[in-house]
Amino acid sequence: MSEPASLHTVCRLADLETSGARGFSIGEGEWPLRGFVVRDNAGILRAYVNRCPHAGHALDWKEHDFLTSDRDLIKCASHGALFARDTGICVAGPCAGRRLRSIAVSVSGDEVKIAAPAPEQ
Ligand code: FES
Repeated sequence: MSEPASLHTVCRLADLETSGARGFSIGEGEWPLRGFVVRDNAGILRAYVNRCPHAGHALDWKEHDFLTSDRDLIKCASHGALFARDTGICVAGPCAGRRLRSIAVSVSGDEVKIAAPAPEQ
């Protein structure tokens, strides 16, 4: 049985226009949930954990910089893995065929929300 999830507002829709993707961090301490939100080719919002399946590094070295210059693919700044925006599957690089972990995402008004496990009591 999965843990109950709670919704967290991570950004506004307009925040995605600047860089095409938006990073977020939820929780405190050494292990917050770090992720990012991006639109896929069809304009559908997707959210992924900001952790590369290759070596476990965060994908962005520069804040909110998750996409290739043409914004077609998600990139990992560490060793250059490239991921499809709609599936999170690595299409080129050292972890080809593996995928980013997806997070449920929704929109309420202009707020982008993700479903994250409730904090431990
Ligand atoms: S950690 Fe992402 S490509 Fe190596």
